[in-house]
Amino acid sequence: MSSITEKRREEVAKTVQQIRDIETQDGVTPDSINKIRDALITLGLQQDLFPEEEFPLPQPDPATGKPARNILYLLSVDDDDRFALYLSAENAGMERTNKPHDHTAWAAISGVTGHELNIIYDRTDDGKTEGRGTVEPSHEIMVEPGSGVALMPDGVHSLVLDGKPTMTLHMYGIAMEHMTSRISFNGDGTTEIRAVNPNIIDKR
Ligand SMILES: [Fe+2]
Repeated sequence: MSSITEKRREEVAKTVQQIRDIETQDGVTPDSINKIRDALITLGLQQDLFPEEEFPLPQPDPATGKPARNILYLLSVDDDDRFALYLSAENAGMERTNKPHDHTAWAAISGVTGHELNIIYDRTDDGKTEGRGTVEPSHEIMVEPGSGVALMPDGVHSLVLDGKPTMTLHMYGIAMEHMTSRISFNGDGTTEIRAVNPNIIDKR
């Protein structure tokens, strides 16, 4: 095992333990998830732990020739599938805006390389009617080295890439495969269930 891999495992384990402790002590509140975000920002600043050779961008699909939008590398997850940490490598030239969506668990994101604009939304309906929902933009946060985003389980965001490759750390209260009821807002008053990203590679 390379010394970088070893060091990364140590630093990831340390950060995840900090985050478990924050949740145990403070529960899930806007303040506690901000603390979780700050722990993730500190990990993201250690860029040498996440070399491109170990975390390459998605390759073009041989069938379509089109590269996948992003690839998620699983860095850590607890035995009960809680506290799941991923590195997301997002493609150059894949400028996109994704739909506003929630995660059904708390979420924290921090920058490793590049810039990813996060738009944060307020929900403007009562959320009581299945398949219906509206949001409006509240503020924007540029996720880059030294910054990050924290979202409560019902928090809504969307991402805008500036067309250059990015690497970001994503930590969720629960592993992504359990997020089967997260929703996207279509902008016309309807919502839809968001598919789980199929590009997950175990890099623990
Ligand atoms: Fe998201």
